[in-house]
Amino acid sequence: MRHGHPGQLRKLAFLAAFAAASGLATGAANAEPKKPAKSEDGKYLDADGHPTYNISEEGKKVDWLTYSGYRRYHAECHTCHGPDGAGSTYAPALADSLKTLTYDKFQETVMGGKQDVNASENKVMPAFGGNKNVACYVDDLYVYLKARADDAWGRTRPGGHEDKPGAIAEAEKGCLGS
Ligand code: HEC
Repeated sequence: MRHGHPGQLRKLAFLAAFAAASGLATGAANAEPKKPAKSEDGKYLDADGHPTYNISEEGKKVDWLTYSGYRRYHAECHTCHGPDGAGSTYAPALADSLKTLTYDKFQETVMGGKQDVNASENKVMPAFGGNKNVACYVDDLYVYLKARADDAWGRTRPGGHEDKPGAIAEAEKGCLGS
């Protein structure tokens, strides 16, 4: 056992608890949210042209995709990946994964699934490409989880949100209808 600095450890634990509590109070975590590079038809894009979040009103209001992604995540993914993208004993914390996972790799994994054939445990990420409740909302899921990964949104349900943009409603109709 290491003889460390119990006082310092207690202080860290206190700070972590404080950060979690204040994150819950405001919705936003302690990091400053990133701003989108541009917006098009009510959708927000980052510098690479990928969809991204827009947290406004001092962390109280989210864009449509973040709100929708939160709901989709908790309908389709949280049973394995844990509430708020926090992970479980079965599946990784997506709030961590998206710190490094690219937009393309995220899409590919959600649509095509993933399985580590060498793993001693048999853990499978199902392929959702054939499930429209997921496949039509993969951007929503990405944007919500990206906000979690960037600490732009905390471990709480979004309250205030922007209206659903017309372009997103159109695309959704096309995706679900075919
Ligand atoms: C039946 C359980 C299960 C469900 C439901 C599930 N996943 Fe997974 N997911 C896993 C497992 C297990 C892994 C790890 C697979 C591996 O590493 O081989 C994983 C891995 C992933 C990864 C890769 C993470 C990384 O760090 O590389 C992404 C992204 C992902 N899941 C997204 C989602 C999304 C989005 C949903 C909801 C639409 C979802 N998953 C639903 C079990 C699940």
